[in-house]
Amino acid sequence: MILVGFVGLIVAASAAGAGYVRNPLRTQVGFVQHQTVPFSHKHHVRDDGIDCRYCHTGVETGADAGLPPTHTCMTCHSQIWTDAPVLAPVRESYATGKPLKWNRVAQLPDYVFFDHHVHVDNGVACVECHGRVDKMPLTWRAKPFTMQFCLDCHQSPAKALRPPDMVTRMDWSGFDKAALKTYGAQAAAHKGLDPKRLTNCETCHR
Ligand code: HEC
Ligand code: HEC
Ligand code: HEC
Ligand code: HEC
Ligand code: HEC
Repeated sequence: MILVGFVGLIVAASAAGAGYVRNPLRTQVGFVQHQTVPFSHKHHVRDDGIDCRYCHTGVETGADAGLPPTHTCMTCHSQIWTDAPVLAPVRESYATGKPLKWNRVAQLPDYVFFDHHVHVDNGVACVECHGRVDKMPLTWRAKPFTMQFCLDCHQSPAKALRPPDMVTRMDWSGFDKAALKTYGAQAAAHKGLDPKRLTNCETCHR
């Protein structure tokens, strides 16, 4: 009885552990982040058609996508919605030069190395890692940024590739499934993508 109980305890404990790793409380998937200024990607991206790169200027050139400085907001909001109370903190930030503070949604622990431009320039779309941002009235984390999430793609990267000029399109469907598969396989072969190198610990932990 004691032995059976003990084995049961181990099974229960490891199940709880596995559950913890995939638990949304830890991975933060789906949790809406509240902001001082209720910035809506749904309005700006989907309704107004502004490209991601207008605000996240680093995605094609650097490790960080970057968050927009206040003057990017003011290129439009010095002309439209100029008196809106929701935009008061934006105007104040512009007047005082003190940057807006955004509560972060997508962040990795410091010991993980990540680089946007190697992904974006090679045809891995924003939607693969950030979900349908164009449907978010307030931004939330769409994918669990666990190690397994990264490895799942690094083990077979071909299926995640599309033409690089389409990476910011949230609902892109330019190719059918078969054509996309062929494209991915050819692009991966052309670049010499090697799952062995991409899953090497040093790729992400340097
Ligand atoms: C290229 C033009 C443009 C830029 C740049 C821009 N906005 Fe807007 N914004 C708009 C338009 C147009 C609206 C009108 C709302 C709509 O589309 O329903 C708007 C509306 C808003 C609203 C009102 C609530 C809402 O979403 O409807 C907030 C808050 C806002 N913007 C914040 C910001 C912030 C913060 C920035 C900078 C990070 C910014 N905007 C940059 C065009 C812009
Ligand atoms: C008009 C400017 C603007 C445009 C266009 C825009 N964003 Fe943003 N984005 C912001 C601002 C401001 C924040 C910070 C507030 C927030 O999290 O909503 C942000 C935050 C984010 C975050 C969360 C970052 C973090 O760690 O907190 C992601 C992911 C993101 N944007 C992806 C995208 C994608 C993908 C697109 C294109 C489909 C896009 N954005 C287009 C202004 C913009
Ligand atoms: C392969 C996955 C992946 C792709 C593709 C990707 N991102 Fe990210 N993004 C991340 C990760 C992971 C982080 C957190 C990075 C960190 O904390 O070091 C992040 C962070 C961000 C942030 C927060 C600010 C920053 O620079 O850390 C923004 C904004 C953002 N991404 C926008 C975008 C946009 C826009 C695209 C498409 C042009 C995109 N991302 C494509 C995984 C991705
Ligand atoms: C949807 C697919 C996908 C996801 C998810 C993804 N990656 Fe990648 N990653 C790629 C591809 C494809 C490359 C190879 C790009 C190239 O070199 O052409 C790459 C390359 C890299 C590189 C550069 C490797 C090198 O030395 O050339 C790093 C670092 C990296 N990824 C880290 C991460 C991390 C950390 C995560 C998880 C937060 C992640 N990636 C999630 C597809 C993905
Ligand atoms: C493609 C990127 C990538 C590769 C390759 C990778 N890791 Fe990770 N690793 C991550 C990410 C992302 C996290 C953060 C997970 C989190 O916060 O939940 C992480 C977390 C960890 C942790 C912290 C404990 C944990 O699980 O949360 C350890 C230890 C670790 N990795 C070891 C390794 C070893 C050993 C290898 C090689 C066999 C490796 N990693 C390869 C992306 C990677």
